[in-house]
Amino acid sequence: MNQDAMKKAAAMAALEYVEGGIIGIGTGSTANHFIDLLAGMKDKIDATVASSVASAQRLQRHGLRVLDLNEAGTLSLYVDGADESNPALQLIKGGGGALTREKIVASASEKFVCIADKTKLVPVLGAFPLPVEVIPMAQAVVARQLIALGGTPVLRTGYTTDNGNVILDVSGLHIGDPVGLESELNHIPGIVTNGLFALRPADALLMGTADGVEAR
Ligand code: 5RP
Repeated sequence: MNQDAMKKAAAMAALEYVEGGIIGIGTGSTANHFIDLLAGMKDKIDATVASSVASAQRLQRHGLRVLDLNEAGTLSLYVDGADESNPALQLIKGGGGALTREKIVASASEKFVCIADKTKLVPVLGAFPLPVEVIPMAQAVVARQLIALGGTPVLRTGYTTDNGNVILDVSGLHIGDPVGLESELNHIPGIVTNGLFALRPADALLMGTADGVEAR
């Protein structure tokens, strides 16, 4: 089974968690599989809230109703992929650049189900460069502070987030304490969001493997 088939299997397994109400939808290739599959059961849900313009457009192409989060209240479920997960279901996200809206929609949801292929499970977070969304005028000052923390920030060239900001992809960070690092980065002026989802980890991880979907 290839990586994409494992992503699709995880997305299929997440349909079991859909019990109606308003569903938060993530961003990326795994979330796209979930959107395509959710379209087959659109009568079961009231509406969706998307974590990116791209996901909103895909949902709308399928005829799924997309609400602004301000109209939606609390969401019953959030389903999204990840770039890495550790065994505590703390994640690195933002490879697709949607980390800020993803973190907001996850925070508005009662349950966060992460869907991924088995390559995303790691013992310690940090091999995947940590995406950090930054206000453009603060790019240089934030980069210096990330270097002081031991990281190597690289500007994602030619990319602007849905919020009009830039992304620094930071490699070389030691992420032995994901909650501590997420909190520390949250306090650096100019950083909008960092891609650590540790203060609010996933509640479940559905991981596609060659032998089926493993739930954690
Ligand atoms: C987007 C994300 C994605 O969930 C993450 O990059 C994983 O993507 P994919 O499902 O394509 O492997 O955080 O900002």
